[in-house]
Amino acid sequence: MRLAVLASGRGSNLLAILAAIGRGEIDARVAGVFSDKPDAPALEHARQAGLHAQALSPRGFASRVDFDEHLFSMVDAVHPDLIVCAGYMRLISDPVVAAHTGRMINIHPSLLPEFKGLRTHQQALDAHATVHGASVHYVTAELDGGPVIAQARVPVEADDDAARLAERVLQREHPLLVATLRELATGRIAWIDQRVHFDGHPLPAPLLLDDANQLVRNRTLQESNA
Ligand code: GAR
Repeated sequence: MRLAVLASGRGSNLLAILAAIGRGEIDARVAGVFSDKPDAPALEHARQAGLHAQALSPRGFASRVDFDEHLFSMVDAVHPDLIVCAGYMRLISDPVVAAHTGRMINIHPSLLPEFKGLRTHQQALDAHATVHGASVHYVTAELDGGPVIAQARVPVEADDDAARLAERVLQREHPLLVATLRELATGRIAWIDQRVHFDGHPLPAPLLLDDANQLVRNRTLQESNA
């Protein structure tokens, strides 16, 4: 599986992907790393790993669509099977999303559909959530609204502030993204007929990351829906 990774900042999820590929845990290679921020540390991580790394600043583009078309022509040029938004912080315009439906995923730091958008950890604290976490979902035109593939749950502790909570969620984001990519590479997870499939069947509820960092079915939800 050829991956293109989009990242705007720190790049810890990119590093987690590269480490897992290096350990032989994901049957994939990163064909390119792309950013809207020329000084993103993620690009430097990519270069240090000897990967194709390209930045394109939105400055100077007349519209969001113009920028996205240009950026994604660079992405498409490395012929990715899957595009991974790993901390890519720009909205992607509808026509460009539509042209890549089913081939683009995003990691988001909340249990979607809860807490879309930004400052998700503070949103969770403000809502007095007792469980927070992260989701990997297919990207569709609706911001953070595409079908969810898998989630990792993180209990909220009484003395949490947004920074502490973000740090614990991040520790679970990395294995969540790795496990999801692993099963996309094996074909156990697939996008068929506009739906997430797992082991050949439509997935009724997001997979959960267990303590052994494996993706398991959310039996409770499935049984209660039965
Ligand atoms: C991660 O927490 C990721 O979930 C979040 O940005 C961070 C990037 O960290 N993404 C979003 O908020 C997307 N809406 P990283 O650069 O260290 O991987």
